[in-house]
Amino acid sequence: MPLLEIDNLHVCFDTRAGTVQALRGVSLTVAPGETLGIVGESGSGKSVTAQAVMGLIDVPGRISDGEILWEGKPLAGFAVANAARDIWGREITMIFQNPMTSLNPLMTVGAQIAEVIEVHMGSSRRAARRRAAELLSAVGISGAERRLDQYPHEFSGGMRQRVMIAMGIACEPKLLIADEPTTALDVTIQAQILELLAELQEKMGLAIVLITHDLGIVAGLCHRVAVMYAGQIVETGPVDAIFENPSHPYTQGLIRSTPGLDADEERLTAIDGAPPGLLQPPSGCAFLPRCPIGDEGCQGPQVLRAVGAGTVACRKAGEQAWREAV
Ligand SMILES: Nc1ncnc2c1ncn2[C@@H]1O[C@H](COP(=O)(O)OP(=O)(O)O)[C@@H](O)[C@H]1O
Ligand SMILES: [Mg+2]
Repeated sequence: MPLLEIDNLHVCFDTRAGTVQALRGVSLTVAPGETLGIVGESGSGKSVTAQAVMGLIDVPGRISDGEILWEGKPLAGFAVANAARDIWGREITMIFQNPMTSLNPLMTVGAQIAEVIEVHMGSSRRAARRRAAELLSAVGISGAERRLDQYPHEFSGGMRQRVMIAMGIACEPKLLIADEPTTALDVTIQAQILELLAELQEKMGLAIVLITHDLGIVAGLCHRVAVMYAGQIVETGPVDAIFENPSHPYTQGLIRSTPGLDADEERLTAIDGAPPGLLQPPSGCAFLPRCPIGDEGCQGPQVLRAVGAGTVACRKAGEQAWREAV
């Protein structure tokens, strides 16, 4: 049984300009211990997907259809009451792009980690502090005992993200959702944080959902990838298959525009155009206006279907080897 199952999720935001259809039928699963990468340009619905899983969709947002199952039981969704408070923060935790906004600047790092442990595990203050020190060491912060009594501003950006990860794993969750965890960090630190996540996942058997706009980041860490475009998943598959033989023209475009992924670096090119607005998204293929191989036949809705080792929402997928396609 999958740990997490998202089924046909629709999320809307009611704004003054109209209803933003942020998620338009997202379905995906996460198996125990696996790392799923969710990639896509800014605005494609990655964070909203994570927020829905964490029960964080709030007015003016709403889940208008679909559901989210945790170990087979309803967690959130249309007409699902919030029955699952004890799962959020304990079995599923989340870390964000900017640790400074999630850490309390007025509390020592040790007190913040210990609080998570006290609240969710019912540990004594003393035991929680001891565990907090162990966690800091586990995420690669040396001199943990001394570091516990310092405040967030005394930590560098990379070290703060390590603290967030320590809080994220404090209760030994089954799933950690990391939303652009390294976007604010420089490349070297970014690589170290990703390495840490990989190491923790192996040691703890943790499942990870890694959200990023950078396809390059998923290569080393993820087992499987889901590519999002305009509130929908357009392609899923094992990471190797996606990189070697992407089926959706959008995934192909992402690879061509990411340094270090396409073997032929001379073809490094950005995808022309911009995603459609989500106030009145097209009912058919949302990528069609930017698609190098699309035609009139592509105006109908595109549903995910099995192609090769993955699934693709493009009627032309599988017709040609991608390197010859354009
Ligand atoms: N609170 C909100 N109010 C209105 N629209 C929102 C809100 N949060 C997200 N959206 C819209 O939902 C869409 C998906 O956003 P998001 O999931 O944050 O994208 P990303 O893939 O960059 O994480 C975007 O069009 C965004 O403008
Ligand atoms: Mg986001």
